[in-house]
Amino acid sequence: MASQMKAPPSSRRQIVDVPNNYKHLVERLSPGGRYIDAQTDDDSPWVPFGDNAAIKHLAFDVRQNQYSNILWVKGPGTIGTHLHRGTVTMVTLEGSVRYLEYDWVGTPGGLILETPGESHTLVTDHPEGCKLFGWMQGPIEFYDEDANFVESVDVWWFINHYETHCREHGLTPNPKLYL
Ligand SMILES: [Fe+2]
Repeated sequence: MASQMKAPPSSRRQIVDVPNNYKHLVERLSPGGRYIDAQTDDDSPWVPFGDNAAIKHLAFDVRQNQYSNILWVKGPGTIGTHLHRGTVTMVTLEGSVRYLEYDWVGTPGGLILETPGESHTLVTDHPEGCKLFGWMQGPIEFYDEDANFVESVDVWWFINHYETHCREHGLTPNPKLYL
């Protein structure tokens, strides 16, 4: 019977050559892990998203329609009601954020989870706004003030948002952002 792990079984600060029957397949087929820096603009610049917000794109996965980024709302503001058709996994990095639909306030380190089919209206009342790390999956339907449908935004919108900015600023799209 396999033993039960109750704590990390090794604390040795050394690479251990662990067995993997499929290492050759991983090496051949995996897109590979990577590190995307977010402290500087070297890996990914801030791309304006309206007058009071910007997005730092971190990852695009076209196979799963997933995309990761940091959303920066630069001061008190609102991102109007939108409907997620996929799962939202988000962590507040700085400032605070809430949705008009709920009574909680997200503060740094806290996890925000939204499941498919939920709509929400994002508000930050913090004087410095908020920075939100997000790993999102699936389309987001955006509506205007009168609930008129505007666009269904998904990984392709995020790639286009990033690459349009790169083109306009003479930047080469960073291959590390594409899984
Ligand atoms: Fe949202």
